[in-house]
Amino acid sequence: MLRAVLDSDREAIGRYCALPEVTRYLPFPALDEEGLTQRMRRLVAATAPSAPEEFLALAVEHDGVLVGDLMLRFTAAHGPGEPPAIAELGWVFAPEHSGRGFATEAARALIDLGFGHYPLHRVMAQLDPRNEASAALCRRLGMRHEAHTREDYPDRDGGWSDTSVFGLLRREWEAL
Ligand SMILES: CC(C)(COP(=O)(O)OP(=O)(O)OC[C@H]1O[C@@H](n2cnc3c(N)ncnc32)[C@H](O)[C@@H]1OP(=O)(O)O)[C@@H](O)C(=O)NCCC(=O)NCCS
Repeated sequence: MLRAVLDSDREAIGRYCALPEVTRYLPFPALDEEGLTQRMRRLVAATAPSAPEEFLALAVEHDGVLVGDLMLRFTAAHGPGEPPAIAELGWVFAPEHSGRGFATEAARALIDLGFGHYPLHRVMAQLDPRNEASAALCRRLGMRHEAHTREDYPDRDGGWSDTSVFGLLRREWEAL
């Protein structure tokens, strides 16, 4: 089940977001209490995006247990005053619930929402090319590997990491 993120999800989200192996390729480090407070504030508020830079956050529940969270962040509109047409996908799942297809099923539903409910033209995902689980998920979703850019993302050690870009266009989604 996909639903809005609630304040009461703090403990479940905090548990997996505190794990370095989960946040290794995320834009934030393993979360402490303060980091978790900030992330929860952002997720709980992200219910009704309508403009670039706004995002939708969803909790993923299986049998009443929160197993992960998803994000659909609008990035661009075709022109001024037009609704966003491009969005970036994001996902974080608890390791104890991985390997059962939950991320695939949930992200597929989010893509359907992006094209079916929002008038998106394109959805995309950007990830560290070493994040093989995420790249495999993109492929399962029918996304195409479009680019590998070199040393364009500042990593936490003061260096740079590469980026893989995966994309799916509306007409490709319609043909899935
Ligand atoms: C990326 C991430 C969500 C992928 O999780 P995942 O468990 O591999 O993905 P799924 O839940 O879709 O499970 C897929 C696995 O379940 C298996 N599976 C079982 N039943 C399935 C079903 N009905 N449908 C699809 N897959 C199924 C698949 O074969 C696959 O197994 P494999 O990894 O051995 O090939 C997870 O690794 C994660 O949260 N990583 C940390 C956060 C992160 O890096 N986020 C992305 C930043 S860009």
